[in-house]
Amino acid sequence: MARPVDPFIGRDLLNGQFQILQKIGSGGMGSVYKALQPEMNRMVAVKILHPKLAGRSDLVSRFRREARAMSHLTHPNTVKVFLYGELDDGSLYIVMEYLDGKNLNQTVRGEGPMPVERALPLLIQSAGALDEAHGKGIVHRDMKPENIFVTRVPLGSNAIHPVWTHEDKAEIAKVLDFGLAKVTEREMRPGSLILTQEGMVFGTPEFMSPEQAQGKPLDPKSDVYSLAVILYEVLTGKLPFEAKNAMEYIQLHVQSPPIPLATRVPDKTFPPLLWPVIARALNKEPKDRFASSAEFGAALMAVLEGRTQLPPLQVAAPPPPPKPQVIISAPGGRASHATHDTAPPSAASLAGPRPVTNLKMLVGIAAAFLLLGIGLALAYLQLR
Ligand SMILES: Nc1ncnc2c1ncn2[C@@H]1O[C@H](COP(=O)(O)OP(=O)(O)O)[C@@H](O)[C@H]1O
Ligand SMILES: [Mg+2]
Repeated sequence: MARPVDPFIGRDLLNGQFQILQKIGSGGMGSVYKALQPEMNRMVAVKILHPKLAGRSDLVSRFRREARAMSHLTHPNTVKVFLYGELDDGSLYIVMEYLDGKNLNQTVRGEGPMPVERALPLLIQSAGALDEAHGKGIVHRDMKPENIFVTRVPLGSNAIHPVWTHEDKAEIAKVLDFGLAKVTEREMRPGSLILTQEGMVFGTPEFMSPEQAQGKPLDPKSDVYSLAVILYEVLTGKLPFEAKNAMEYIQLHVQSPPIPLATRVPDKTFPPLLWPVIARALNKEPKDRFASSAEFGAALMAVLEGRTQLPPLQVAAPPPPPKPQVIISAPGGRASHATHDTAPPSAASLAGPRPVTNLKMLVGIAAAFLLLGIGLALAYLQLR
C-alpha cells in the first residue's frame, strides 16, 4: 500500500519564498524539510509543527519558545535560524540554515563508535554552543545524539577549533532542536509544580540528568551531564547504564554509578584523563560536576591534548562559598563515591571547594591547639 503523501512536499511557503523539496527528519513535534529559497539561491531547512498539534497551546508555545531561543544564538556550532512565524493555515514554522550530513546518532549507527580524536572535537564544539545558550539563560534540556548534527566543510574555510579532519574536510558539530529549552530564571523559580511536572514528562530518558529525571529545577549543569552521556555513547556505542526500558534508565541515572569506560569496553584503551572527566560530568549532584559547559569543554580539550591533569577549574562562575559539611557528606551516595574511587588523585584533588575546606579545617585545628597551649601555660604559671 502506498504511504500517504506528505502534504507539505512540493508546497510553496510564504508566497513562493520557499519551495519544500523533501522531508529530512521528523520527531514528536513536527517534521523538518529541505527547501529551496530561490531568491537567495540557497537551500534551507524548514521545521514545521505537526498541523494536528496546532491546537495544543502548550506545544505551540514550546515551538515558539524554541524559535525565539534559537534566534538569539549566534555561536558557530548552533544551527542558524533565519526566520520563524505562522503559515496561513496556522502551522508554525522555523526556517534554518540547511546542513549537509547526518545527525550524531545516524553517524554512530552507520559508522560505529568514534575514536577519541574524532569524538572529542564534536563534543567540545557542542559544549561551546551550549555555553553561549547558558550565558543567555537558556538550558537546552534535550541534548542527545539526534540533536547534534555532523556536517563537513572544506579545510581552512572556518575558524572552529579543535576539529577532526578527514579527506580535506573539517567536521563541524551543530546543536539543534531547542524544543525543550527554557529560560533559566523561570526554570529556577522555586516551588513551581507545573515546571516540575513538565520536567518529568519531557526529555529523553537515556540522556537525562538525575535532576531532570526527578522533575527538579534544571540549570546548565544538566546539559553538561547529558553531553557526558552522549560522549560515552559516541565512544563506546553503549550507554553508561545497562537498562531494558525508559523507566529503568531514569532510575539508574538517579541512583546508580555509571559503568566505567574500562569495564564497558575492556578491549579499548582511552587517554588516562578521559574517564575522570566523564565521571565528574556524570556526578549525581550538579555541584560536583564541572561549573559550566565551558569548563567541561576545557577539560575535554585537556584530554584531547593528551594531558594527564585537568586545567585549573572554574573557567566561568566561581564556586559557592565552601560549607564544612561538604567534606563528610557526599550524600548523593554511590555515584559520587564511585566517581572519586575511579578518579586518579590528580582529578579528585581538583574537586572544587574541597581543598579550601580542608585548609580551613587545618587552620581551625591549629588555632584550637594554640589556644589550648596558651591556656595550659597560663594555668601552669598561676599554679606556680
Ligand atoms: N537545519 C537542518 N539541516 C539538516 N537536517 C536537519 C536540520 N534540522 C534538523 N535536521 C534533521 O532533522 C532531525 C529532527 O530535527 P529536530 O530539530 O531535532 O526536530 P525534532 O523536534 O522533531 O526532534 C534532526 O535529528 C536532523 O537529522
Ligand atoms: Mg530532535
